[in-house]
Amino acid sequence: MPGALIAFEGLDGVGKTTQVEYARRWLESIRRPVEVVQEPGSTPVGEAVRQLLLAGPPVRSAEAEFLLFSAARAELVRTRIAPALAAGYVVLADRFVDSGWAYQVYGRGIDPQWAACVNAGVLNGVAPAGVIWLRGRPHRPVGGDRMEQEEASFHRRVEEGYAQMAARGGERWVAISSEAPPEVVFQAVQQALRRWLAIPEEE
Ligand code: TYD
Repeated sequence: MPGALIAFEGLDGVGKTTQVEYARRWLESIRRPVEVVQEPGSTPVGEAVRQLLLAGPPVRSAEAEFLLFSAARAELVRTRIAPALAAGYVVLADRFVDSGWAYQVYGRGIDPQWAACVNAGVLNGVAPAGVIWLRGRPHRPVGGDRMEQEEASFHRRVEEGYAQMAARGGERWVAISSEAPPEVVFQAVQQALRRWLAIPEEE
């Protein structure tokens, strides 16, 4: 069975990590090989970039910020995601390339054409089979790291960016309200996963 990449997107604190964990447990229970990755992170370079971006000296250039996230992503794709997909794994990504679109392109206003060029090199043909966008307001208290301390208007632009991508995304995107209890949110997540991964209802 070929592998597939599924990305979980949305603002900080909407419950992506919880849903990724539910998805991992469910897929393992039906014996699908699963790999979980988180951005930025999940490789030694990614962890270093994460420290730099979230707790290091302020990065003043939005382009530099985008390139740092992109560098972490390139390493993740090359060393973990592409090999896992080739080995037939379902890869669940807690954020992926659409975070770059939402936060740096829509949020900070970097040039979309340039971002698309960078992304083409970074992704090297790897694309999510499905994107789960958990929309809505954060329900866990946020405010810890630097990105979370951004002003409300920034987060509104990010959310609007996700909404636009979801509207254009067709079958590859689902928008799920993050406001219901996690078990209820997961029912919708599971439905989307069944569709993208061709998992019959009996399983
Ligand atoms: P993290 O603590 O992983 O976020 P979360 O609360 O979702 O667990 O921090 C990642 C932060 O980096 C988050 O605010 C979103 C931001 N980010 C970007 O701005 N661009 C990107 O490409 C990625 C992957 C993340």
